[in-house]
Amino acid sequence: MERPPGGSRRIRGGAAPDCWTMPSDESLVAVTCTAPVNIAVIKYWGKRDEQLILPLNSSLSITVHQDQLRTTTTAAISKDFTEDRVWLNGREEDVRQPRLQACLREIRRLARKRRSTGDGDPLPPSVSDRVHVASVNNFPTAAGLASSAAGFACLAYTLARAYGVEGDLSEVARRGSGSACRSLYGGFVEWQMGQQADGKDSVARQVAPESHWPQLRVLILVVSAEQKPMGSTAGMQTSVQTSALLKFRAEALVPARMVEMARCIQERDFPGFAELTMKDSNQFHATCLDTFPPISYLSDTSRRVMQLVHRFNAHYGQTKVAYTFDAGPNAVLFTLDDTMAEFVAVVRHTFPPEADGDKFLKGLPVTPAPISDELKATLAMEPVPGGVQYVIATQVGPGPQVLDDPDAHLLGPDGLPKPKPAA
Ligand code: DP6
Repeated sequence: MERPPGGSRRIRGGAAPDCWTMPSDESLVAVTCTAPVNIAVIKYWGKRDEQLILPLNSSLSITVHQDQLRTTTTAAISKDFTEDRVWLNGREEDVRQPRLQACLREIRRLARKRRSTGDGDPLPPSVSDRVHVASVNNFPTAAGLASSAAGFACLAYTLARAYGVEGDLSEVARRGSGSACRSLYGGFVEWQMGQQADGKDSVARQVAPESHWPQLRVLILVVSAEQKPMGSTAGMQTSVQTSALLKFRAEALVPARMVEMARCIQERDFPGFAELTMKDSNQFHATCLDTFPPISYLSDTSRRVMQLVHRFNAHYGQTKVAYTFDAGPNAVLFTLDDTMAEFVAVVRHTFPPEADGDKFLKGLPVTPAPISDELKATLAMEPVPGGVQYVIATQVGPGPQVLDDPDAHLLGPDGLPKPKPAA
């Protein structure tokens, strides 16, 4: 099976590939990697196996560039550590969390398998050695930007490098969070639902590389949350139990949508891609409403963004912008580079920043573009100051990366978080 993309670096001190031993302590092996966020355009919602995290339907996503959104993780392994420990954004977490444990168990199983087959040279650190893991996001976790996908993909990828495990890591990442397996690859990625009961064929695979569609742009509209939404794990569980629409969607609609979405991407058919993206997001939220009791992730601002996109597209008589929403009110928009500046201006016009106007747009630089009076008239939207907190402009990006700079380690030579973690 194909190995996930990412830099590769030979070792010194007999450690696993891609690792460094800490200069001050040859018994400690550390590796630091980054992993991206992904945004689903054909949504995963519902599991057929809760334990193994196997989905009811396949899904397809776009990997967002790590220049804007990424998780960085350091794993350090030492025979001197007495227990596994994990820090998230500088705070120690309970390592007994079942999903964390499932990832650790899975990676150690693969490492053991590799050792027993004598695969790989030199020998990785002992599987029985304990690991310390520190992870940080370069974006606010509370903003609801799919941090668990990037987090568990990064954990799987970093542990694999540290323990010297090669090959597809879908199974490891998936055990942390289903959507995480799609963050193991850059570009356009599908998670094939698979048929087997043991989930061996439920794997992520790249549909097209990040260089495939260079004009594609992503705008993330971070909106003010009015309530704390129900988490996706609990939400989809209730949907599986109560929504007939979900069952119909998974069985009768998604298979053809996966084929159609892959075609739109291969042919860079933006209107086709955009329409299907919006329809699939809407159908996902329809299954949420069909869930009993109903779940509602969209806020008034989310609905206003949807209206804005439809009116903008109607003004031009073609589909130039698409929206999608996950289990929260933030909007993710797709457009092409030639429309980006104008649509950013439309967002700013409709949701004028209340304060810090110069911090409203983050990420890729966008030259301000004027919007015509005709367009303003078609949009006919009453401005809602502060409705959108800020916008992140980004694009399609690569999969996980190994960081070659030892200064990037989030853990010091003592295996504890450095005082000021570098994101
Ligand atoms: C709406 O992957 O967060 O973002 O597998 O229970 O951890 P678990 O769920 P998770 O669900 C993501 C749901 C979604 C759609 C998607 O990303 O495909």
